[in-house]
Amino acid sequence: MRLLSIGGSGRTGQRAIEHALARCHTVTALVRTTSSLAARPGLTIVKGIPLSQPNIEAAFATPSTPQAVVVSLNSPRQSDKPFANPFAPPRLMADSHANLAKVMEKHETRRIVSTSAWAMRVLVRRSNLCYAYEDHEAVDVEMEAKKNLEWTLARFVMLRDGEVLPVMDHGDRGEGVGLMASVTRRSAAACLLDATEGSQWVRRTPVVLN
Ligand SMILES: NC(=O)c1ccc[n+]([C@@H]2O[C@H](COP(=O)([O-])OP(=O)(O)OC[C@H]3O[C@@H](n4cnc5c(N)ncnc54)[C@H](OP(=O)(O)O)[C@@H]3O)[C@@H](O)[C@H]2O)c1
Repeated sequence: MRLLSIGGSGRTGQRAIEHALARCHTVTALVRTTSSLAARPGLTIVKGIPLSQPNIEAAFATPSTPQAVVVSLNSPRQSDKPFANPFAPPRLMADSHANLAKVMEKHETRRIVSTSAWAMRVLVRRSNLCYAYEDHEAVDVEMEAKKNLEWTLARFVMLRDGEVLPVMDHGDRGEGVGLMASVTRRSAAACLLDATEGSQWVRRTPVVLN
């Protein structure tokens, strides 16, 4: 399959690209800094940002239209600590998805699998995690309105380092998931690829953990 990666220079995104190439897919990565990814067979690196529709159009044309889009964008803070200050545009992820949807509909690319997040409401409300979660929720609104797209918003619990481990789909609401539930970034990346290749999570927001 030919894939477009958005956020492929990030920690989850790089691993998703590794999984995709290992599974013999070809990947175009739209990244802000081309040196953030090592050149490899099967990988085409295009400079740009998903907030720019022309940049997405350029990525769709290099070298050819993707069959699916895999998103692992983040709304960054100064560090991963819950109270670290945010510095991303407030709708970075939502507006990027809105742009992607427009270009996908134009080129009849239907499948998009995005990295989303799940955490306990109380933790989100009382920390600066709220900014990223507001953006993730705005992505939900953008995607749920797109009747022509086969979207999946994979809501991962706390990401940590580690090998690929089996994952559990805890349903779309994550009822009963504990505060300390976690998933390795490699498992999350593999899961994004599984979702892209399959149809079991189309139009779903599964809460995913190891
Ligand atoms: N941390 C957790 O425990 C956790 C748990 C569940 C879900 N998640 C979700 O997982 C997703 C991926 O997280 P991650 O830790 O893999 O992210 P990350 O390592 O911070 O990577 C973020 C990606 O987003 C890109 N990006 C950030 N700001 C941008 C901007 N203004 N314009 C264009 N691109 C921009 C980065 O590009 P550059 O390389 O150019 O900066 C990078 O490719 C996030 O949506 C997060 O909410 C995280």
